[in-house]
Amino acid sequence: MDVIIRPTAAEAEELTARMIADAINAKPEFRLGLATGATMENVYANLSKMNKAGKVDFSQVRTWNLDEYVGLPPEHDQSYRYYMNKNLFNNINIDIRNTHLPDGMAADEVAEAERYDDSIEEAGGIDLWLVGIGCSGHVGFNDPGTSFSSRTHVAYLTNTTYEQNKIYFNPPESMPRRAFTAGVGTVLDAKKVVQLITGKRKAGIAAAAIEGPMTAMISSSALQLHPDTVVILDAEAAAQLKLRDFYDEVFMNDPKWEAYR
Ligand code: PGA
Repeated sequence: MDVIIRPTAAEAEELTARMIADAINAKPEFRLGLATGATMENVYANLSKMNKAGKVDFSQVRTWNLDEYVGLPPEHDQSYRYYMNKNLFNNINIDIRNTHLPDGMAADEVAEAERYDDSIEEAGGIDLWLVGIGCSGHVGFNDPGTSFSSRTHVAYLTNTTYEQNKIYFNPPESMPRRAFTAGVGTVLDAKKVVQLITGKRKAGIAAAAIEGPMTAMISSSALQLHPDTVVILDAEAAAQLKLRDFYDEVFMNDPKWEAYR
């Protein structure tokens, strides 16, 4: 696991976007895993800007998102399809038919989850999955207790996640308590994982996930098993990391990070 700390959230977001753009430029028929949430908004703004400036081309890129609320149609302003269209897909030269999210309205939830995993597999797997982390330690909606080998499924959301996300709903209590999520195992199958963590409210969970023991109680800690994960944090989110000085030393001296310093 590589850990990169940037002084500000803006710099962490910009670095994340650049890393994704570089990966797409190296392989135009890219299969990109995506995430939603407040953390990602500026990453998508950066990618949109780079696309408009001709610095990255999404014409052959296919995307799969981590999750979607059960019961929300695509036009609902809190659905993740709506978020993705607004924050990224409408602003770049991607073919919207190449963008995938679980169907929150699917009548058969088990079949929909299976279909989603199959679509990733049939496409040849995810080249890079961009993920965040929730206050519960989740990646996707894999809240505490989710198996590291889980595949896409419908999850009942914990109170921590409900409290974190209900503020976006009006009224807050209308937030669905269940959501489709790619499993921890689905994410671990990606060739590369880039995780972005910003803000001081994430400092404790970031340290536990990155440096603590692996446990299904913190699904993000499963990324310690992944052979190619880069975690990018701002200084606030990195505040409780024990090896902070070492991560900084590696970033400043290891030739592989030269282009990003
Ligand atoms: P946030 O959500 O970016 O809104 O903090 C992240 C998550 O819950 O995974």
